[in-house]
Amino acid sequence: MELGVNIDHVATVRQARMTNEPDPVTAAALAQLGGADGITVHLREDRRHIQDRDLLILRQTVTCKLNMELACNEDVLGIACKVVPDQATVVPERRQEITTEGGLDVAGNIQKFSDAVKRLHDAGIVVSLFLDPVAEQIDAAQQCGADAVEIHTGRYANASGEAQLKELETIRTIGKQIVDCGMKLHAGHGLTYTNVLPIVHIPNMRELNIGHSIISRAIYVGLVQAVKDMKALLEK
Ligand code: PXP
Repeated sequence: MELGVNIDHVATVRQARMTNEPDPVTAAALAQLGGADGITVHLREDRRHIQDRDLLILRQTVTCKLNMELACNEDVLGIACKVVPDQATVVPERRQEITTEGGLDVAGNIQKFSDAVKRLHDAGIVVSLFLDPVAEQIDAAQQCGADAVEIHTGRYANASGEAQLKELETIRTIGKQIVDCGMKLHAGHGLTYTNVLPIVHIPNMRELNIGHSIISRAIYVGLVQAVKDMKALLEK
């Protein structure tokens, strides 16, 4: 199981002052020292955290998997095809949102996502689609030729007790569907040191992308240690 460390929040702190620190490039190097299998960055249309310059330097310096999150729009698709990250995770984007809310509606936009997947494939990029755990969306992802699906774990993360167990069961069922469809199973969003283990134990889970919880802990213990702590949970 691979841990992708999302370093957007490092760039958020930098952009709060529009200065040059902390640098997500340094954060990526430290995350790798801590055992990250991947570095994940979201180049948003409004460039609120990660900048084009970050992506370009990360492409040259990251030695593990570079996973670029991007919306399905011309601007960032063009950049992805030029920079060629190892993996592109296509996500929905709304300007006013605090963070990514919900998965893509691939089922309602098959042609659009098939074209985007083909374009990224032609550039040599592995493509993952960020989806809610909904059977219809998984079938649509397969139709579009996606290599992987990242299940949106936000509802699981926000729930508790019985409701959380129900969300977990849904993710498990949809996870099996993803694997049966021949796609790789990824998950992310809202995962923390305290809620990640049941997700780790889902059969065939290949990659988790985690940002906020790791960067929050890093403020107290440093990024290398924070990544090590999360890796230890994934290896349990
Ligand atoms: N996966 C995707 C597709 C995301 O958009 C995000 C948030 O940027 C994450 C994972 C990480 O979420 P969190 O910061 O809550 O760990």
